[in-house]
Amino acid sequence: MQSQNKPVNAAITAVGMYVPDKIMDNKYFESIVDTNDQWIVTRTGIKERRLMENGATSDMAIFAIQDLMKTSGLKAEEIDVIIVATVTPDMFFPATACLVQEKIGAKNAWGFDLSAACSGFLFALQTGASLIKSRQYKKVVVVGSDKMSSITDYTDRNTCILFGDAASAVLLEPTDNLNFGIKDSLLYVDGTGKEALYMKGGGSLNPASYQTVDNKWHYIYQDGKAVFKVAVKGMADISYEIMQKNGLKGEDVAYLVPHQANLRIIDATAERMGISKEKVMINIDKYGNTTAATIPLCLTEYCRDGKVKKGDNLILSAFGAGYTWGAIYLTWSFD
Ligand code: UT7
Repeated sequence: MQSQNKPVNAAITAVGMYVPDKIMDNKYFESIVDTNDQWIVTRTGIKERRLMENGATSDMAIFAIQDLMKTSGLKAEEIDVIIVATVTPDMFFPATACLVQEKIGAKNAWGFDLSAACSGFLFALQTGASLIKSRQYKKVVVVGSDKMSSITDYTDRNTCILFGDAASAVLLEPTDNLNFGIKDSLLYVDGTGKEALYMKGGGSLNPASYQTVDNKWHYIYQDGKAVFKVAVKGMADISYEIMQKNGLKGEDVAYLVPHQANLRIIDATAERMGISKEKVMINIDKYGNTTAATIPLCLTEYCRDGKVKKGDNLILSAFGAGYTWGAIYLTWSFD
């Protein structure tokens, strides 16, 4: 029992995921744009990604949460808060969280969407953890869900090979054993990044019109080289910084759980942290960049493979559009 005045940590106590069945491999991209498997694998590490053919971001989020509920025994009525990290909401409003709440039957929950692109899951996790630490809420579901195919230009080889569709969710609950749960976070935004990675159309600045559609402003634009330069430094630095701040050495970290945008960025981050490749969660080869879903997708897969143990120290880190970036240090709370 938690006494009323004792501090609590927020711990991840359950995980769930959904990836659509339809696979788009590198061969498929060779048939639609001027690219090749070797370029994609060596420059990014991606071999396949998934495509949500029927359904939207909310549907994937629902499937991921239902998977979490099925495997953990969590009941929909027990959920206090639903936070959906996404840059591909079903609509501007209502929030995707409302659509998810209704479909899963979480009749006692409130919730909202959080937009921080590839850092969305980390920002949402920290927000959810703060709600738990406030002691006002006991069960917060954080889901990263992005249907990137809905904003991808499949004639642009610079971007179309990178992204995939997926959703993944975690449950946050309070623990009065402060050896477990989320222990620290470092999160940042820097709006100067707005020129390098964006979707220009559809918002209040450029409302949808024939012109915005003709100009392809409803698709992702990315200056890959510019983003790469800051992402590779940003993600490595922040991951190292959170280790330094918490007195952690390479051997104290069981896993780096990195955003899956580019294997070269991930490798550089692990190197800066002084940890070996076996201690890095990777699934970019199977799913590509699924934006807000990458980190919980890694957590779910590695957890289900029995690779994450109670007491393991994890460093989660991400870099994305905005710019947004950050790292979270947590100690895993279940086997
Ligand atoms: O998750 C959110 C944050 N995003 C990121 O972290 C992504 C960061 N950026 C990257 O991961 C990399 O910049 C990319 C994977 C997007 C691109 O890799 P790169 O090594 O930076 O390539 P580049 O953009 O410098 O392009 C090199 C060449 C260019 O040709 P030229 O100008 O040298 O003739 C491109 O046109 O590769 C060409 N290219 C391609 N070739 C074959 C670009 N895309 C492709 C492609 N297939 N799909």
